[in-house]
Amino acid sequence: MTYISNKKKLLEEINFNQIGVSFKGSGSYVPDQILTNQKISQKVDTSDEWIKSRTGISERRISNLGDNVTEMGYKAALTAIEMANWDIETVDLILLATSTPHDLFGSAPSIQAKLGANNAVAFDLTAACSGFLFALITASQFLKGGSFKRVIVIGADQLSSFVDWNDRRSCILFGDGAGALAIEATNEYDNFIGFDMSTDGKRGSFLNLPSKNNKEKIIDNIDFSSGGFSPIQMNGQEVYKFAVREVPLILDKLFRKTKYSSEDVNWLVLHQANQRILDSVGDKLKIPKEKILSNLEKFGNTSAATIPLMMDEAIRNNRIRQNDIIATSGFGAGLSWGAALIKWG
Ligand code: COA
Repeated sequence: MTYISNKKKLLEEINFNQIGVSFKGSGSYVPDQILTNQKISQKVDTSDEWIKSRTGISERRISNLGDNVTEMGYKAALTAIEMANWDIETVDLILLATSTPHDLFGSAPSIQAKLGANNAVAFDLTAACSGFLFALITASQFLKGGSFKRVIVIGADQLSSFVDWNDRRSCILFGDGAGALAIEATNEYDNFIGFDMSTDGKRGSFLNLPSKNNKEKIIDNIDFSSGGFSPIQMNGQEVYKFAVREVPLILDKLFRKTKYSSEDVNWLVLHQANQRILDSVGDKLKIPKEKILSNLEKFGNTSAATIPLMMDEAIRNNRIRQNDIIATSGFGAGLSWGAALIKWG
């Protein structure tokens, strides 16, 4: 079947007046290399006890040379496509949320090429730790608008390359990984219930991965700034206060907007930054601990990857089931934050 007729057939199956979103598959990938708290304490003045009690993190994965964002994102996407049982030729859009692309011009097209998704368009989207959520919301709008039928949304990051490994206040938090969801348009129901998103650039200096502006000369009287980045800079206390204030507020707003309540939620899937943030948000929304998914003990903060990485684990071990209601929220640098309410399936 040619590209045009293939695509026409898929789009013809949709009733354009009534397009909803359906969740079909999940996937994830983490590098093999494990950096425990005990090992970090050989590098900076810290301890397993300090890191665990302040963050809940025990270990994180660190990419070696073979594990860049393109490779990790590709592997996560492939497992999501396998779960969805899709013919790769039917994928229309590949959206990669990342702040650490293997290629600054964009890594999503390389993932497209590796997958052999010849009929898809692929591009990157950057919103730090909110990136996956912002990409999921973007994808849902393409689906509901009738432009695309099948989308792979990937969150992948390799922050280990940009962490200051001499700064004990930040290097303990981050790890590398990737996760992906396969979602499609349907005219039978809508499992993307609602969303909200926000940014505040005035508070952007609390968490940065800024470019380095080294002044150099091309020729006499013509200067340029050579490329490169400084390591991550973070005001941990301010970021913490931001998260425990804004995340419950945006989720509460979303519940009111969609006429759902926190009691309707089967699972709270927050960006995995710090166990104390997860606990505080759960307390404020009166969501019991058993409903708050957490895997940051094993992976730390993998930035755009945390939400799909967590969801994939919970789907594969049968915790998240068909028709479960999931409240999810991403937050981080920008500052940026957002929330979405979805039903799995
Ligand atoms: N090991 C041991 N001691 C450490 C340490 C470490 N890794 N990091 C900081 N400390 C020390 C500080 O130097 C400070 O010592 P002092 O009182 O003698 O000056 C003390 O511990 C308290 O530091 P503070 O920064 O107040 O700690 P905290 O309780 O705020 O915890 C974070 C620090 C980073 C764990 C916490 O602020 C946090 O998680 N913030 C959110 C960060 C985040 O999630 N970022 C990503 C968002 S997407």
